Amino acid sequence: MSSHPTIDPHILVIFGASGDLAKRKLVPAVFELFKMGYLPDNFVLLGCSRTDLTDEDFRKRVVYDNEHLDKENADEQVTKGYADKLFYQDISSYTDAKDIKKLGQRLRKIDAEHGTEANYIFYLSTPPKLYADIPAALSAEGLAQREKGWGKLIVEKPFGYSEESAKELNELIQQYFPEDDIYRIDHYLGKETVQNLLVTRFANGFFEPLWNRNYIHSVQITAAETVGVGSRGGYYDESGAMRDMVQNHLLQVLAHVAMEPPIRADAHSIRNEKLKLFQSLRPLKKEDVSKQVIRGQYLAGDSEDTNYRDAEGVPDDSKTETYVGMKFFIDNWRWAGVPFFVRTGKNLPMKLTEVVITWKTPPQSIFSEMDAEAMGCDNQLIMRIYPHEGMALEFGMKVPGEGFRVKNVDMDFFYSSLTSADVPEAYERLLLDCMKGDATLYARGDSVEAAWAFIDPILDAWKNDDSIPLHTYKAGTWGPEAADRLWDEHGNGWRNPTEAIVQGMHYSRQ
Ligand code: BG6
Repeated sequence: MSSHPTIDPHILVIFGASGDLAKRKLVPAVFELFKMGYLPDNFVLLGCSRTDLTDEDFRKRVVYDNEHLDKENADEQVTKGYADKLFYQDISSYTDAKDIKKLGQRLRKIDAEHGTEANYIFYLSTPPKLYADIPAALSAEGLAQREKGWGKLIVEKPFGYSEESAKELNELIQQYFPEDDIYRIDHYLGKETVQNLLVTRFANGFFEPLWNRNYIHSVQITAAETVGVGSRGGYYDESGAMRDMVQNHLLQVLAHVAMEPPIRADAHSIRNEKLKLFQSLRPLKKEDVSKQVIRGQYLAGDSEDTNYRDAEGVPDDSKTETYVGMKFFIDNWRWAGVPFFVRTGKNLPMKLTEVVITWKTPPQSIFSEMDAEAMGCDNQLIMRIYPHEGMALEFGMKVPGEGFRVKNVDMDFFYSSLTSADVPEAYERLLLDCMKGDATLYARGDSVEAAWAFIDPILDAWKNDDSIPLHTYKAGTWGPEAADRLWDEHGNGWRNPTEAIVQGMHYSRQ
């Protein structure tokens, strides 16, 4: 975020503004953009939801009383200046023509008073069942496509529940907003370190020649969380780790790791390559699901005293997975035969997201007879997305002294050494991009469908085949042991760093 882009005057309308996301992420992210001077003078944030609030109530709730908003680094005048840009419109229904008409009148009033020029971003932070109905209602009221001013739509995840429902949703929304004005948000794409995967690969000459089946042994992606489902049981139980994390966030990370070089770093080129990558994922056959995908559900343990099934909003006989560990292949020239391992889970030992590329061992271990430690020396590139964002390259070095003892060492880079500024929050970057009209870091309709096409057979098998086990794991462990066996025929294994390694900002396992 170095040079300040020109952003048109506009109103950011947040549907579902009394909800958790608006308070925790959206309003604080826009505050950061405001503090850094990114927002145009003629900017208004209009919260909209069914809770009865005045403008003042809303400001109090999402600015003055909001512990997620970083007021400590802003003087009072700045905070007030921001709060004054926030307004609120209550409606009794998100789709009733009468209510949307009232919203339209309010928008026109704001345009007249604040010079926002009839440019609107509509952010859908509502229950997903409204994702098609709100755009329809906006369009009927003439708020989607207009002669004067522009309209953009941001849609939160989950985008669909399966390939078929995502297709349906795309078709419905695209009737009212052209694809170029639809921004499907995936907050992982807003993370600096996820974007850096592309820079690492394509701004350097030496990684890419080694980035293929000839040299790479395996790729693993981990997104571990220490929290359980907390009070989100109602939502989570319908979703599970596969829909909540893998179909969207982790497949997007995978695309950055595995896609072909785009011809340019623009939305069209990058998103074309992602689509191709998703289309190259080898679909899992019914009989392979139990061999290649391990699902697990947490039980009370060291880090959690409640079984998943006892959490609020979760049925006693729930079969929803809170852990997924899987192995799959990509059928293209670059990746033929290379196993990809992806895992995510709630209540694992630490909050950690990282990608590990493991290279093949040298064709001959000439030092192996001299010292056993020479064996098993991994050449790995670890790209840490969270915490202590950065990367490390691990390789073998000679231990000084007699013989040839080889030890793993790592060369580290940490973002914190590049900039004293905090790495921007994902939502800041994504909202700013939408305001500028840049959709590069948003998911395109066709690739969301393609990602579902890969996931659907797994979900179908889980739903229809009772013989596929739902493993359990103790909260605070790295998930079911069965997930370790995914590696059996490949050697190596999951990289399970310890808290000490991560907090000490080291990468290496030794
Ligand atoms: C959300 C999921 O999209 O991502 C949550 O719904 C999950 O269940 C969260 O906890 C993880 O995001 P992050 O940025 O904390 O890794």
